Amino acid sequence: MMVKITWRRVVFALCAVAALGMAVAWLGLVPIAASSGHWRITTWFLHWTMQNSARTYSAINTPEKVRDDDGLISAAGHFRQACQVCHGAPGVPPSPVMHAATPHAPDLAGTAAEYTDRELFWIVRHGIKYTGMPAWPETGRDDEVRRMVSFVRQLPTMSPQQYRALTQATEPGPFARCTGCHGADGLGRGQQDVPVIAGQKRDYLLHALRLHAARKSFSAIMQTAVSGMSDPQLQAAADHFAAMPGLKDAPPVAPHPIVQNGLPGDQLPACRNCHTPGRPGPLLEGQRAGYLAERLRAWRGDETVVDVRKPQDPMAVIARRIPEDEIDAIATSLAQGGSALVKAP
Ligand code: HEC
Ligand code: HEC
Ligand code: HEC
Repeated sequence: MMVKITWRRVVFALCAVAALGMAVAWLGLVPIAASSGHWRITTWFLHWTMQNSARTYSAINTPEKVRDDDGLISAAGHFRQACQVCHGAPGVPPSPVMHAATPHAPDLAGTAAEYTDRELFWIVRHGIKYTGMPAWPETGRDDEVRRMVSFVRQLPTMSPQQYRALTQATEPGPFARCTGCHGADGLGRGQQDVPVIAGQKRDYLLHALRLHAARKSFSAIMQTAVSGMSDPQLQAAADHFAAMPGLKDAPPVAPHPIVQNGLPGDQLPACRNCHTPGRPGPLLEGQRAGYLAERLRAWRGDETVVDVRKPQDPMAVIARRIPEDEIDAIATSLAQGGSALVKAP
């Protein structure tokens, strides 16, 4: 006998299926135990769905530039502090607890090649729902994500020795959690994105560390690096790095006219007014040019600080008054003395 399909019957059947689904969920019959893993077909289906989604969304929702090969040290250091626990790293197995998750994190040395740079960027930036794969904690730090994409790209060919050299995981000392990126000398291991902290003003270092610890900064990398540190520990770190030879010893250099005099016609004050010993701003001379320029550009794009009356945050206003084509010149001129620091004792 043929059953005649009518709208009423279709709606009734759909309602019955929905009710059955609700009943199964309500009775607690959906197996959620991580210990039993997924069926093979479920694993395949979920992974296939994830890969398709990464492909589609990465095609429509990623910036022009998705990879930056110049900052492997900070990315490696961050991988060690934030990703290794789940994914493992060259020569380092994942934590047994994380490996007992369903799904557990794949060894990226084996899977990275399955994804394009754009897809890796999208995954690292946005994370993957229902899997434990977290999103990048700071929005607006695509530069940090780009460096991580490059690092993940290197994993398939990276030896344990290379990974240890990048992260300096074997370097002992009370500030071992800092020196992997900043170097035991606090000079930033020659990286353009890692600032020199040696010889910086102590109060400024502490101010910056407290902002990172309170998650009021804009760096996922530094927020993670100081998470769990107590205020006395932050103070000890500030004391330690401020006392080292570094920025305070940077030799005087021929300053850029804006650093020296500002642009009085455009109400741009001289940088020297604040960025010298005894004034409120951090020391800039001898700092990395790439870092300085990046900070100035970040302030220019920071739409959350537009109120000129906020005296506690003068830099957003000042950075916007610097002509765009002068930023690199100012940064380079400030950084001139930095090379002399490397030879410091
Ligand atoms: C809490 C555990 C966890 C942490 C921490 C974690 N991941 Fe993942 N990650 C996962 C899981 C689980 C998957 C697999 C998702 C899947 O297969 O659907 C994944 C997938 C990925 C993928 C896609 C590759 C693939 O084969 O699926 C990349 C790339 C990745 N993670 C990078 C990172 C980076 C970089 C970090 C650190 C910033 C990180 N992950 C931190 C759990 C984690
Ligand atoms: C994984 C790499 C990494 C680790 C580990 C790390 N840092 Fe950093 N640090 C950075 C990067 C990158 C920046 C620049 C952040 C930005 O772009 O805003 C930075 C910025 C800073 C600043 C701000 C400097 C300034 O001029 O504004 C201070 C202070 C600092 N780090 C101190 C520390 C201390 C102390 C530790 C150890 C507890 C530490 N860092 C661990 C990479 C790291
Ligand atoms: C009114 C005082 C003042 C003037 C003038 C000033 N700054 Fe600043 N600047 C500050 C303060 C205060 C900070 C620290 C802000 C913070 O990180 O919260 C800072 C931070 C910075 C930083 C970040 C440094 C680091 O280590 O993270 C850069 C780069 C910078 N200033 C560049 C400049 C330049 C270039 C000029 C001149 C065009 C300038 N500043 C003029 C007060 C000033």
